[in-house]
Amino acid sequence: MRVLIAKDYDELSEKAFEVMKDIIRSNPYAVLGLATGTTPLGLYRHMIEDHKAHGTSYAHIRTVNLDEYQGLPKNHNQSYAYFMRENLFRHLDIETSNTYIENGTAQDEQAECARYNKLLEELPRDIQLLGLGSNGHIAFNEPRTPFGSQTHVVDLTENTIKDNARLFSDISEVPKKAFTMGIKQIMQAKQILILASGANKADAVYKTVCGKVTEEVPASVLQLHPNCILIADKEAASKL
Ligand code: F6R
Repeated sequence: MRVLIAKDYDELSEKAFEVMKDIIRSNPYAVLGLATGTTPLGLYRHMIEDHKAHGTSYAHIRTVNLDEYQGLPKNHNQSYAYFMRENLFRHLDIETSNTYIENGTAQDEQAECARYNKLLEELPRDIQLLGLGSNGHIAFNEPRTPFGSQTHVVDLTENTIKDNARLFSDISEVPKKAFTMGIKQIMQAKQILILASGANKADAVYKTVCGKVTEEVPASVLQLHPNCILIADKEAASKL
């Protein structure tokens, strides 16, 4: 794993954009694995600015997202589908039909997981972007998720529900379950870019980079990926 330390969140976002830009400019047909959450927002802003200033086109780019809350329709303002549309897709020339995410309202959960597994097989990702949970989760793969897991429905931990409550008006509104891409499928991306910002991620960053590879810390599996870059700002890297 290559580790880059940025002086602050702005520099982290710039460095992340350098990595993403190389992929998009060298292959206009690239498949991008994308993430939601607070951490990638700076990177997404750079992608939008670059598209507007330099005309970098996403007309043939396809995207696959990591996860979606169970029970939220795609037009719900806390759904990850909505997040992606508002924070990235609607500002680019990407075709909506080329952006993929789990269907949070699928009635048949198993069929939805199978559909997504098939899609991931058909769309090998050139890069997978990840944020890092303060408990070491990647996507919604919480501690003790088997490294061999594929798309599945998870019960979110108290820790994750608490972390995510800041985006809802009340903690009781945070969904308790989510669809998530599995760890095996994250590892299948050709390249992985994981971002971590802020002191509350310092412990998870330390365990991801220096700890033992264990299902107790899902992100520690990334030590086994042949092409993984972790970018942390100073606060997130403070325990390294
Ligand atoms: C989001 C996701 C989550 C977040 C993680 C960090 O699609 O899969 O694993 O990346 O919870 O979230 P932030 O960036 O909000 O700290």
